[in-house]
Amino acid sequence: MCGIVGFTGQENALPILMKGLYSLEYRGYDSAGIAVFTDDGLQVVKTKGRIANLEEKLHEAGNPSSTCGIGHTRWATHGGPSDRNSHPHLGGRDGKVAVVHNGIIENYLFLREQLEKHGYEFQSETDTETVAHLIDFLHKGRQQEDLAQTVLTALSLLRGSYALGVVSMEDSREIVAARRDNPLIIGLGEGENMIASDITAIISRTRRYIILDDNEVAVVRPERVTVYNQLGDVVDKPVQEVSWDLSAAEKGGYAHFMLKEIMEQPRAVADTVRPRIQDGRIVFEDNGLTDERLRETEHIHIIACGSALHAGMVGQSVIESMGRVRCSVSVASEFRYTDPIVKEKDLCIVISQSGETADSLAAMRQAQAEGAFTLAIVNVVSSSIARQADGVLYTWAGPEIAVATTKGYSAQLAALYLVAAKLALARGLMDEAEERSFCEALLELPESIHKMLEDVGTVQYLASKYTNRSSVFYLGRGLDYAAALEASLKLKEISYVHSEAYAAGELKHGTISLIEDGTLVVALATQKRLFEKTVSNIREVTARGAEVILVTTEDFDGDVSACRCVIRLPACLERFAASLSIIPLQLFAYYVAVERSCDVDKPRNLAKSVTVE
Ligand code: F6R
Repeated sequence: MCGIVGFTGQENALPILMKGLYSLEYRGYDSAGIAVFTDDGLQVVKTKGRIANLEEKLHEAGNPSSTCGIGHTRWATHGGPSDRNSHPHLGGRDGKVAVVHNGIIENYLFLREQLEKHGYEFQSETDTETVAHLIDFLHKGRQQEDLAQTVLTALSLLRGSYALGVVSMEDSREIVAARRDNPLIIGLGEGENMIASDITAIISRTRRYIILDDNEVAVVRPERVTVYNQLGDVVDKPVQEVSWDLSAAEKGGYAHFMLKEIMEQPRAVADTVRPRIQDGRIVFEDNGLTDERLRETEHIHIIACGSALHAGMVGQSVIESMGRVRCSVSVASEFRYTDPIVKEKDLCIVISQSGETADSLAAMRQAQAEGAFTLAIVNVVSSSIARQADGVLYTWAGPEIAVATTKGYSAQLAALYLVAAKLALARGLMDEAEERSFCEALLELPESIHKMLEDVGTVQYLASKYTNRSSVFYLGRGLDYAAALEASLKLKEISYVHSEAYAAGELKHGTISLIEDGTLVVALATQKRLFEKTVSNIREVTARGAEVILVTTEDFDGDVSACRCVIRLPACLERFAASLSIIPLQLFAYYVAVERSCDVDKPRNLAKSVTVE
């Protein structure tokens, strides 16, 4: 989703802004632009397309030099991708104000009408241009006020969500930043400061940053940063330090971030699990999951989107079977609007890699308002969901840059296994010996994932063989169905091959009519008690001409003669099988996308951090 970067300091801002924009590329975008101060005023250069297109345009414009400026990558919401709709947007007839924005201004049409009555002419279809003109309008009427005060007044008139970067010709060294329900951080340097949507855009210049909270406004100058609350009072903000190295956000010799992140999964799972297992016992940091709370929990709601939702479905199965508490999994965007039944003794687990997903955040707030205890399973430290949840269980996967999640998902599964075991312990369903053997198995999981990663050759061969299939089906039951959903999502999102995941027993209720000669079906069968059932479903599709790849365990002894290829998982606790079966299927998706020359790390139309509804 859109990305913001801004710089004010002593050096030429342009290369710093461009580097920042490149590092925000992974969030997903369709156009880019910058505004810098030059002798002739605020110069805006922006374009539809990639940042490389922006570089060309900047070159044609003589690469304007300036020590302060703002930049933006846009993911279109209001108005399609075009040069005109790209940010920054200028405010006023004389273009004295420039604005970059992430989020959605819900009442922009009303404001636009009002501003048009005052003679403002709009150049774009965006909601953001309204903000630029509004700030110009208010500033003109209040000459004595500084820009920050004007921005505060403007914000009080806006409905919706935003992270904003604003510059004005009145002070060519100052950036005013603001946020509501959209992430924005301020990087603190020596004689220079930055604003950015996330850490990746500042880490090459500083590791120190502050997080802007909702309804705060920051005045960012080279020598200081001042943050105000809604009332205009100065707020003392804690300074945070980035905990990972720049190298973690670089490709490190891999062709794509996605491949690097797939390969990092043993480490991501180990880092999530190991600090929480001490002497064979599960030890949680202070995240509010006390034994008392877990004993009294009447219902668990898991809320998430996309892959995090699929992790939640695996979690649901493990939690219910180990903890014997009813657990429901909800799509965050649905949960918000279905009048969910949430009670005070309920535990609400919100899963999010980015910690900024707008729907998940809003659903979490709703559950909080109903009195439930909220636990966030989040990867990005100090993200909005992490900060606003009642308790946090971080997945220590490290920065995930590829849009399609892999290591983030695997770390979420590991965190959920820990929660399930803690629940079982608190409710007396697991004794100390069982806890020790569970922990031992969990500690072995990274090594098993590593083994799955060793046989890349087979998957590469399968990807080249099946790369031209127009549709692929994934089948599984129970845990395997949840894993099938994730495997299917991986394939379609990055390779643009249509794919469906089906609960294996459900296929014959309609979808089997799509199976014909040569249809590729990937069947997952890792749960012993369901082996035979899934084998029957495999027979149903092979009888209709499907070619089947089977992902199963070492001890599966059923008849596999009808399958084109069998991928076997190393021995592991059955409950953890989803952590292993997904590995070859992530790789399969990756290599199919590579074969099809897709932009693996930045699939079309997708954003890494979905900060709008
Ligand atoms: C798919 C993918 C998305 C995210 C979803 C939720 O590969 O990455 O489906 O899982 O957008 O994002 P987070 O986990 O950041 O809330």
